[in-house]
Amino acid sequence: MKKLFGLLAILALCMAISAPIVSAKKKPFKIRFSHVVSENTPKGWGAKEFARRVNEELKGKVVVKVFPSSQLYGDNQAIEALAAGFIEMAAPSSAKFVGSVPALQLFDMPFLFKNIQTVHKTVDGEIGDEIRQMFVKRGLGIKLITFWDNAFKQFSCNVRPLIKPADFKGVKFRIMSSDILEAQMKALGGVGLKLPFSEVYNALEQGVVDGQENTASNIYTKKFYEVQKYMTFSNHGYLGYAVIMNQKFWDKLPKDIQASLSKILREVTEKVREKAVELDREQSALIRAYAKKSGKLEIFDLNAAQVKALQDAVAPVYNQFTDVVPPSWIKKIKSM
Ligand code: LMR
Repeated sequence: MKKLFGLLAILALCMAISAPIVSAKKKPFKIRFSHVVSENTPKGWGAKEFARRVNEELKGKVVVKVFPSSQLYGDNQAIEALAAGFIEMAAPSSAKFVGSVPALQLFDMPFLFKNIQTVHKTVDGEIGDEIRQMFVKRGLGIKLITFWDNAFKQFSCNVRPLIKPADFKGVKFRIMSSDILEAQMKALGGVGLKLPFSEVYNALEQGVVDGQENTASNIYTKKFYEVQKYMTFSNHGYLGYAVIMNQKFWDKLPKDIQASLSKILREVTEKVREKAVELDREQSALIRAYAKKSGKLEIFDLNAAQVKALQDAVAPVYNQFTDVVPPSWIKKIKSM
């Protein structure tokens, strides 16, 4: 009997000692953040900055690992992988939500946003809230956290300089998966081919497509300019991202961690806005410098009349998607 008591006492002591050790060794929550662009872009920078801050400030509680340049998942796959819980975070461009939250194609409407401030007013205001609600209502298992900027897009191609609508006739463009972008190209007289971002360089090089539209940072960091003869700084459409998280993963995080992550993401979003402007300026200048030095790329800037002619050509697109993008949103944004 004495022996048994002794054993029980030892056992109790072991449990008392080991319990705090076991809880102290609780594994940190792991966030895998997958995206398709280079690190030296607004999204690449934002993902890295988010990871840096979380890994520092929530050390031992949360670990973030970023997978850039389609290393883990490309484009639309990332949304499915996130919904299924294979990754915890992603930031696909609005166009990639065509199959899940089609109203996000709002951001693909050509010449809709007057400037970047208009985009910020949109995502920070009622429209942004309505989009958040759409994610909830659709029960996708995806939580929309915030919106990150890239910049306005520019056209490039190998057939001829793209100045007036007639120049787009018959030109094949790589586009993101948005139906609005397909309609935009059609309205201009061109053809839009939906291809994943990771395939754009090869598609341009091998002539699968003649041209593309993207921001200076994507064109610069993925070297699309090397396989294009003409580039037009048209600023004809916005490119931005919905930063998303797996809903179940979010729900199981303790409240204090949720609060810290939300705070970090709010602050990183502010910084991404500044960084996006800076990178757009810098990388546009680098493309222009390459054009000048190499003589292999011709660059064009549009005057007000040329912009107006392109705007008129794409105007019919606005009436083609009234069942996808609420017309009230368009009206509101136009009046901003
Ligand atoms: C594209 O496919 O061109 C972009 O969505 C890539 C990106 O994420 O910026």
